[in-house]
Amino acid sequence: MRASDHWSNARAAMAVRRGLDPSIPRYGSPASNLRDFRTNAHALMARAAELGDLVRVDMLYKPTVLVCDPADISAVFSAPEVWQRGDGLVPLIGRNTLTTNGDEWLFNRQAIQPSFHPHMAARAVDSLSAEFAAAIDGWGRFARGGEPFDAAWHSVRLFARHATASFGFALTDEEADQFPEALLRLQRWAFRVVAGGSRRTRQADRDLAMLDGIVARALRTPPPSHGPPTYLERLRQDMEVDRDRLRDHMMLALIASADNPPNVVAFTLWLLARSPEHQEAARAEVLSVLGDGIVTAENIERMPMLLRIVNESMRLIPSVWFLARTATTDTTLAGRTISAGTLVFPAPYFAHRRASVWDEPNTFQPDRFLPEAIDRIPEFAFMPFGAGPRMCIGARLATLEIRAALALFLQRFRATPAEQTELELEGFFALRAPAGVPIRLEPVGH
Ligand code: HEM
Repeated sequence: MRASDHWSNARAAMAVRRGLDPSIPRYGSPASNLRDFRTNAHALMARAAELGDLVRVDMLYKPTVLVCDPADISAVFSAPEVWQRGDGLVPLIGRNTLTTNGDEWLFNRQAIQPSFHPHMAARAVDSLSAEFAAAIDGWGRFARGGEPFDAAWHSVRLFARHATASFGFALTDEEADQFPEALLRLQRWAFRVVAGGSRRTRQADRDLAMLDGIVARALRTPPPSHGPPTYLERLRQDMEVDRDRLRDHMMLALIASADNPPNVVAFTLWLLARSPEHQEAARAEVLSVLGDGIVTAENIERMPMLLRIVNESMRLIPSVWFLARTATTDTTLAGRTISAGTLVFPAPYFAHRRASVWDEPNTFQPDRFLPEAIDRIPEFAFMPFGAGPRMCIGARLATLEIRAALALFLQRFRATPAEQTELELEGFFALRAPAGVPIRLEPVGH
């Protein structure tokens, strides 16, 4: 054992003496857990989750508890004054709605809330659909060439280039080309920083400079002379926010709108490539509503099968697979004592696959989300956008954009599997496929 391992084990033992319930099963050692967390947190947690609903996965001196059962997750979310969100993402995206607590959070949330009103989300989707359609047309070269198509890379590029416009960004083609890899590298880097393991690297500096450059240009750009105000303009006009705060809100908007939504698109295409009957049913629905026409926020709502497919995709592969909260006081969870300072990971990924809740939890069955079945899903057993007052503010916008991209895809192409059979997943703040999400495309004749 190295001296550092010995030291970390000793500090973890101290935390235990401070009052974590000994009946919670433990996984691994604090040193090995920290190492595995930095390398692939999802693989670590998947092994730990096999031990039960509540499992200790201590890391270094930090008592840490993985929470997999919907009822226990509910207990955490029902007491937001006890369980606070950490500020681990500050190095990447600054201080904004996602990274703050208390009054600062409330101010931030109220500042951006009007931009996420359902009317605004609908307007944003209507104004991006023609550009989405033209960009997705361009994917046709993969259908002709027959080579594998990385659904993740292309979806992230699509969203970075076009879905960010309603926030006030105008990415160049070159920036959009660099965006998918830069974002993946930055997330991996920031995750290791949060886990205490990594300093700034030259590559991280270059990637951050690219994102900062995009944000700085948006902040310098004069407001559009016509059309509805962008998110940036609303923040400038309606709120007394200083430039640093504006930058932090914009950084979150840039990353949030060009990361999770396109990854859900990619994972859904991967699942549909393996489930031809669902794919054909979804395509029939899309064509019956759209024909050759363009997708809108209004006609997306007439595609219930597509919505069930997206929900089932987010159940199986929730982009935000675990959340993090810290106990601000001594408390209890599932009848167990928890000391102040304990970190908990309520994990949608494992709640979404609990055998006590879901039949055949690992299979793709969109009909779980039929209207008559939805009412039977227990609270917190399906929470891809979090829950409670701090639920994702972009949920409505994201689900519209995701369905718009998928409808336009299904109108044009059929997804089939590439050779790879398993999807390799890497879990940091979000679930990502480090080797991409390869599928093949065939043109659809109609
Ligand atoms: C599929 C797409 C998305 C997923 C799966 C997702 C997921 C989540 C989750 C799980 C949370 C809660 C985090 C927690 O409780 O710790 C969250 C919060 C948040 N999301 Fe999203 N998100 C998505 C898209 C977006 C978009 C497009 C935006 C805006 C551009 C956005 C902005 C936010 C903000 C501001 C918060 C913090 C809310 C608060 O604390 O009040 N998200 N998101």
